[in-house]
Amino acid sequence: MRLGLSGHDRRPDDPILAIRRFGLQFSNPVGLAAGFDKNAEVPEAALRLGFGLTEFGTVTPRPQPGNPKPRIFRLPAQQAVINRLGFNNEGLDVAARRAEALQKRGDGIIGGNIGKNKDSTDAVADYVTGAARLSPLVDYLTVNVSSPNTPGLRALQGRAALTELLSAVQAARRAPVPILVKIAPDLTEDDLEDIIRAVIDTQVAGIIISNTTIERPAGLPPVLASEAGGLSGVPLFAPSTEMLRRAYRLAGDTIPLVGVGGIANADDAYAKIRAGASLVQLYTALVYQGPGLVRRIKAGLAARLRADGFARLEDAIGVDSR
Ligand SMILES: Cc1cc2nc3c(=O)[nH]c(=O)nc-3n(C[C@H](O)[C@H](O)[C@H](O)COP(=O)(O)O)c2cc1C
Repeated sequence: MRLGLSGHDRRPDDPILAIRRFGLQFSNPVGLAAGFDKNAEVPEAALRLGFGLTEFGTVTPRPQPGNPKPRIFRLPAQQAVINRLGFNNEGLDVAARRAEALQKRGDGIIGGNIGKNKDSTDAVADYVTGAARLSPLVDYLTVNVSSPNTPGLRALQGRAALTELLSAVQAARRAPVPILVKIAPDLTEDDLEDIIRAVIDTQVAGIIISNTTIERPAGLPPVLASEAGGLSGVPLFAPSTEMLRRAYRLAGDTIPLVGVGGIANADDAYAKIRAGASLVQLYTALVYQGPGLVRRIKAGLAARLRADGFARLEDAIGVDSR
C-alpha cells in the first residue's frame, strides 16, 4: 500500500505532549506503526509529517517476496484493511544500509521491527541476526511475534518460547537499545499474563499492543471478511484497546505500553492513553485520511489534556484503567 509521504509539519510540538520512556525522549507520543515503511525507505519523511516516532519493518534476515497478490483488501465503509502480505521485504542488509545513512538525524525516534523468514527453521536465530545488525542503528527494536501471516510466528508468544526468544535478543544486541515486544489482540487472559511474566523476567522495555486481528467482528462485508489475513483499522479499535487495558491492569506502570489499533482521530489516541498507553501508533487511518491526520491528532490530544486539567501527558496515562 504505497502512498507518498510528502508534507511537512515543522511546527515544534506542544510541550504538553512530551514524554520520556525507556530512556528515550519523545516530543509527541504519536507514531507511525510498522508495515508502512517495510524497508526503511522513509523514516525521515515520516518524522517530517510530525510523528514523534516511526518504526520501519518488519525486516527479515533474508529478502522474501511475501504472499501472492492480491494480498491487501480495503474495506472503505469500515475504514479497515485486511492484509496478508507475509513480510514482503528487501531483507536485513538493505534495511541496515539505509538505516546507516540516517545516523546524522535530528529530532524524532526511529525504531526497527524484526521478524523471521517464512522458510527459516530457527526462529530465534533470525531475530538474533536482526537484533545484532540493527541495534547500533536504531533508537529501539521491536520483536514482532504477532503477525498472522507467517505460519507459526504467533506461537512465539507462549511463555517459555517468548522468554527464550527475548533473552536471546537482549543478549544479541550490540548497543543497549530498548527492546519492545509486539503482541496480537487475539490472546486469552492467561496468554497475556504469560507474556507479561516473560517481559518482566527478561527485563524487556515495553509491549506494543497490538498487531492486526484474525477475528472478524460483525458488520464487515462477507466477501471481504472471508479473506485470510489480519484486520486493521476502526474495527480493531475496541478489541485492541481492551487488550491494552487488561495489560495495564496487570502490569501497572512497571511496563510501558504502546497502544496501536484503529486510531482514527484524537479521541481514539486519547482513549488509548487513558487506557494505559504511554505512546500510540497508527497505520490504517493514514491510508484513508492522509498525512494531515498527524497534526490533527496532536492538536486534539493537547486540547483534551488541557480540558481535563492535565499538565502533562504523563498524568493521563492509565487514568481510565485504575
Ligand atoms: C498493510 C499492513 C502491513 C503491516 N505490516 C506490518 C509489519 O510488517 N509488521 C508489524 O509489526 N505490523 C504490521 N502491520 C500492523 C500495524 O503495524 C498495526 O499494528 C495494525 O495495523 C493496527 O494499527 P492500525 O489499525 O492503526 O492500522 C501492518 C498493517 C497493515 C495494514
